Amino acid sequence: MYTKILDATAGGYNNAVSTASEILKNGGIVAIPTETVYGLAASAYSDSAIKAVFEAKGRPQDNPLIVHISDLEMLKCVARDIPDVAYECAKRFWPGPFTMVLPKGKKIADSVSGGLDTVAVRMPSEKTARDIISQSMLPIAAPSANTSGLPSPTTAQHVINDLDGKIDAVVKGNDCDVGIESTVVSLVGEKPRLLRPGAITVEMLREVLVDLIVDDAVLQQLREGESAASPGMKYKHYAPKTDAFLVEGCSNSFVRFVNQKTDCAAVCFEEEYYSINIKKISYGSKRDEKTLAKNVFSVLRDVDKLNVKEVYIHAPSKEGVGLAVYNRLIRAAAFKVIKL
Ligand code: TXA
Ligand code: MG
Repeated sequence: MYTKILDATAGGYNNAVSTASEILKNGGIVAIPTETVYGLAASAYSDSAIKAVFEAKGRPQDNPLIVHISDLEMLKCVARDIPDVAYECAKRFWPGPFTMVLPKGKKIADSVSGGLDTVAVRMPSEKTARDIISQSMLPIAAPSANTSGLPSPTTAQHVINDLDGKIDAVVKGNDCDVGIESTVVSLVGEKPRLLRPGAITVEMLREVLVDLIVDDAVLQQLREGESAASPGMKYKHYAPKTDAFLVEGCSNSFVRFVNQKTDCAAVCFEEEYYSINIKKISYGSKRDEKTLAKNVFSVLRDVDKLNVKEVYIHAPSKEGVGLAVYNRLIRAAAFKVIKL
């Protein structure tokens, strides 16, 4: 398949948006920029388009997709029995990097939710994504536009590296501002439950959802046979090809630890960069979790260009957005954590 590149950055914005919408209406699949990561978009009503998304990504069929909407009216086409608290969350966190799990609406293709009776829904803030959804007049299912298991894409080039020749088009927009996927909260259980941390932090969520529970899988590996509230959390994820380890400890111990290594690389904080004697990449200041989030996936992809056997990644604090960065990195390291 020939993958079209639709450039939305220059004068081509309107053309890119209308071409992408047409492809979606015709049952095709298109990668689009959002404020979190690039998504691989398909009509949430079309079983065959959804199947093509799973196939292009090599994604396990039981890992459900997030459905994206451009306005609150569309929510009723996606979900049913919507509780008041969902509207309170929508008012506070939409449009933006926040997803809620609700009872699934009838018209949504079963393949979207991998057989579950629930659906995850989000209203992105990125203008290109919103314009494409509203012009297509369809709720749009969109997982991250990467090959399943690899780091999520935050630039059009990342998408092209993974999916060129496997999808109808890529809308080339700006690099993603947030850099990690949306916060996912389930509103179908007895209490609201955080399934995946993101830029909307636990502290922000608790302003609306006072009794929010943080699911165990956010920071821990599921035990053999345990079922995941969010199926996506059980898979190896975000991993570079280089064998990765997450390292916890202060800057001094991290620098000392990595400087003893040979044939390895370090992913470090800006503050440590000049003290490290092996191959290294900084992912931002340890005091600036938003920047760490913005850079983390790009850095994980860059690690593979260093041609080393192992990479040691300095773990961020678990405060605020740091929790979400930590959640991605512990998966990238397949839960291999070294405590100094
Ligand atoms: O920021 C984002 O959310 C990006 C952009 C493209 O919008 N999308 C994204 O999609 O991250 P994906 O497919 O890579 O991640 C979807 C996550 C998975 O962990 C999945 O298990 C969970 O949402 N999920 C989807 N539907 C669910 C459901 N019905 N119940 C529980 N978890 C669900
Ligand atoms: Mg993903």
